[in-house]
Formats: sequence, structure tokens, C-alpha cells
Amino acid sequence: MTLNPKIKKLRELKIKAREGGGQKRIDAQHAKGKLTARERLHLLLDEGSFREMDAFVTHHHHTMANNKPLGDGVVTGYGTINNQLVYVFAQDFTVFGGSLGHAHAEKILKVMELALKNGAPMIGLNDSGGARIQEGVVSLGGYADIFLQNTLASGVIPQISVVMGPSAGGAVYSPALTDFIIMVKNTSYMFVTGPDVVKSVTHEEVSFEELGGADTHNSISGVAHFAAENEEHALYLLSKLLSFLPANNMEDPPVIQCADDPLRTDDKLDSIVPDNPNKPYDMKEVIRSVIDNGYFLEVHEHYAKNIIVGFARLNGRSVGIVANQPAVLAGVLDINSSSKAARFVRFCDCFNIPVITLVDVPGFLPGTGQEHGGIIKHGAKLLYAYCEATVAKITVITRKAYGGAYDVMSSKHIRGDINMAWPGAELAVMGPEGAINVLYRRELAAADDPDALRAELVQEYRDTFANPYIAASWGYIDDVIEPNQTRPRLINALEMLQNKRDENPPKKHGNIPL
Ligand code: HXC
Repeated sequence: MTLNPKIKKLRELKIKAREGGGQKRIDAQHAKGKLTARERLHLLLDEGSFREMDAFVTHHHHTMANNKPLGDGVVTGYGTINNQLVYVFAQDFTVFGGSLGHAHAEKILKVMELALKNGAPMIGLNDSGGARIQEGVVSLGGYADIFLQNTLASGVIPQISVVMGPSAGGAVYSPALTDFIIMVKNTSYMFVTGPDVVKSVTHEEVSFEELGGADTHNSISGVAHFAAENEEHALYLLSKLLSFLPANNMEDPPVIQCADDPLRTDDKLDSIVPDNPNKPYDMKEVIRSVIDNGYFLEVHEHYAKNIIVGFARLNGRSVGIVANQPAVLAGVLDINSSSKAARFVRFCDCFNIPVITLVDVPGFLPGTGQEHGGIIKHGAKLLYAYCEATVAKITVITRKAYGGAYDVMSSKHIRGDINMAWPGAELAVMGPEGAINVLYRRELAAADDPDALRAELVQEYRDTFANPYIAASWGYIDDVIEPNQTRPRLINALEMLQNKRDENPPKKHGNIPL
């Protein structure tokens, strides 16, 4: 039987649309170690779940009338990842370098609007030469329309960007407005102005990689949240990240069956904190010990390592973990760690993910670098984020909680729901050494043996002030717990708080110190 010519034409058009910019450019893409937009979607989405939209869209720009590739350099649609509905766009670098013109932008906007209306995550796979030069200001308008849509969707649906090639100029601001950026090592880069412009303006010589590669944005600028080894790894990280998140802000995160005993205790925690308060230990060991199956998806792993943030599960429920890391800069709060944790806490609060805070913090980092860099406003971000968060907040102080940092790290006073401390916790206005210097300056100066006197005073201070029982006597700590019991106690608190309802006063929006 001969094929109906109308169906034949349809099939031919669909095949043509799949060809993108042609085999030569597909080969060039592969030669750079990159996959095509469609190959990426094939890897990312559940088999057979992708429904493409707008495959027949072309640009209508007169200067390029003789070259109108179907799809206009971006593949858009929806599908599922582990059975969870998502909306996606994947820029096709083989068509005009994935550059964004009017039609390309309209396609992205269409799926973004659908994602927002239907309450499902929006995923962007970015690989683009930026604004399409031939379309001029219309391209800039297209970007601005996307920026607006990113902003309107912020806090309503999770938005995740995977940068898998160039992202340059103002184009960087769409990923920057989304919740998470995953970058692929060696093949992706993001910058507002490229190496050539940098050279002509500042005379600095810098490579693409050094200026805006995955390592740079994961460890120096903090623009990106994950550094993937390759494209497959990036898409794997994306699916892992999604598994912790609800589809939108009106839903709770998914709860999965948990094979790890919720009553499991761990004696190792009873001795993990060294007797010497100036000695570090690795807070990640504490995290891995208490969470389900030790599986922790760390966010911003390479940035501001003095604080740890990431997702885990407790008896199958998603939680966000924020923890000071005594093994890096003694776990001090500084500009970068404050901003990093503030953004994470706000994300969790947007999407109903309870926040578990593990505290071992000697205070804020002193110095002109920090003060002149605005530690006051950056520290205030973290304070603000915790204060405004209405999700369940559970805090465990493992050792130090000194000064303003005690207040900031999800204390009772800023609506911590359940606040616990380990028996060796020290809650005080400042550490013993600093306090002794302030209180006994004259006595120490006059002493025959100042070191002996100092040691005596430090011990006295520690016994009197730097312990969890004074805070507990005020009800600032709900309970002092044995470290080995931390997992069951966290799970118990989380389950007790599962129906928590709390609200902030009605307002247009707050004014977080930016
Ligand atoms: C139109 C573009 C393009 C663009 C690349 N192409 N960028 N076409 N507009 N912005 C086309 C190329 O002409 C080429 O077409 C194909 O895409 C692949 O590009 P190549 O240069 O061959 O690839 P490669 O060597 O890998 O270099 C990639 C690149 C380079 C580094 C991204 O193409 C480049 O520098 N492009 C311009 C980047 C840029 O300055 N964009 C504007 C940023 S400002 P053929 O037909 O040969 O395959 C911006 C403002 C946004 O985006 C503002 C928002 C508010």
C-alpha cells in the first residue's frame, strides 16, 4: 500500500527537523566532546516520554530568508524523569550556534509558561552563542522576556540550568536567575564579557576556562552549584537533584520508602568531637552518619567549604542540610559562606523542604577584608533567610555556638522548631580565650604566671558559661542529647513537625539585604 502523501510529507518534515544544522555540524559538536540537543534529551528523559513542541517553528527574519532550519536552534517540550513531569528546552548548537532569536525565544517562553501554569520543574540545557547577531535588538528582547519569566516562576516551580557549552554576555542571566546551575567541566563556560574584551579593557590575558569554566564558577565565583565530569554526569546530577524536590511550591517533596533503620544509632558520634576545642573534625562524617544510607547530594561542594549545604533524606523524607564545617577555617562564617547558606535556606523554604542545621561555629571571621567586603550585609542575608523561613527547622549544636553566629544558625529565637545540643556544646557570647582577655585584662597583666592564671580562668569560664545547660535552663535548647542518638532524634522531630503551619505577615515581599 502506498503511503498517504500527506503523512509522507509530515514524516519527511519531522526527519528534517531532527537533522538540526546537518551532519557536518553534528560531527563538529561530537568532536568537541559534546552531545547534540536531542541526544541530551534522550539521555535525560524517561524512554519514550518526550513530546516535542514547535518542531516546525522557523525564524521569519528577512536577512536570513534563505536559511530557515526547522526548530530554530532549540528543542522544546515536556517529558518525565523517573516518572516526574518536567518541561525542557535544549539549545541546538548545530543551528546558528544555538543563538537566540525571536522564534527561538518564543519557543522557550511557551514551555516556561506551560511549566508555570502546570506546576512542574523547568529545565534548560544551555549551549548557545548568545543573542543572534542577525536579529539584533529583537534577540535582546527575547532574552529579557525569558528573564522576566524566570523571575515570575522563581519560588513557584524549581528551575534548573545545565550549562553544556557557551553561555556568554547577558545570556548568562537566565541561568543565573534559576535555582541551580550545573556546569560541565572543560566544555562549558559562562561570562559576561569574553577573554578578548577582557584583554582590550583590562589588558589581562585569560583563557575561556580560567575566566568562566566549570571549575572557576564552582570554586571561585560560586555562580555554579555543581561541576560535572562530563555531559552524562551532568544529566545524572540533574535527575538526582530533582528526586529531592516537589513539583512546585504548593506540594510537599516526595517521600520514598526507606531501607535505613530510623532508630539506628551511631556510637562513633559520641567521640567524634575532639576533647581539644581547637581541633577540627569533619562535619561531613556527622552528616553521613545521620542521614538515610549516607547519601548526601552536596550543593556548592567546592565553594565556601567552611559551610556545607545539600540534600539528604531522613526516613525517606527530603531535607536540606546546612552545617558549619570545623575542618575548614574552623567553620567560621564569612561573606561567601553566609551568602551560600542563605540562598540554600531560601530555596528549601520556597519548596517546603525542612532545614536541618548542624552547628559548630566560632563566630564571624574578623578582619578588614571581611568588614570592607560587607560581612554585615552578607551575614544579615543568612540571618534574614533563617528568620523568614517557615518550613520545619531543626537544629543540633555539636560544639561551638558563639556570639552572633549562635543567633544566626537557626536558633530558637528565630523560630527554630526543635533545638538540641550535644553534651559538649559551648553556647556563649564568645570563646573562652576571648572572654578571659576582655574580663581579666588587668589581672592577667599583673599576674606572676599569666599562663597558669589564663588556663584556670578558661576552665572556670567553660564550666560556668560555655556549656549547653544554661541555654537549656532558659528553654533555648529543647534537649541535650547523646550524640549517638542524633539520627533517631532528628527523624522523630521531623515527623512531629510534618504538619507544621507557620506564616509571615502579609506583604508584597520582604527586603532581604542584598
Ligand atoms: C549568530 C552565531 C552566534 C551568534 C555563533 N554563531 N554565535 N550566529 N549569532 N551570536 C554561529 C557561527 O556563525 C557559526 O555558524 C556557528 O554558530 C558556530 O559558531 P563557531 O564560531 O563556528 O563555533 P565555535 O568555534 O565553537 O565558537 C563558539 C563561540 C563563537 C565562542 C560561541 O561562535 C562566538 O564567539 N560567538 C559569538 C558570541 C557572542 O559574542 N555572542 C553575543 C553575546 S552577547 P556556521 O554557519 O559557521 O556554523 C549576548 C547578549 C545577550 O548574548 C543579552 C541579553 C540581555
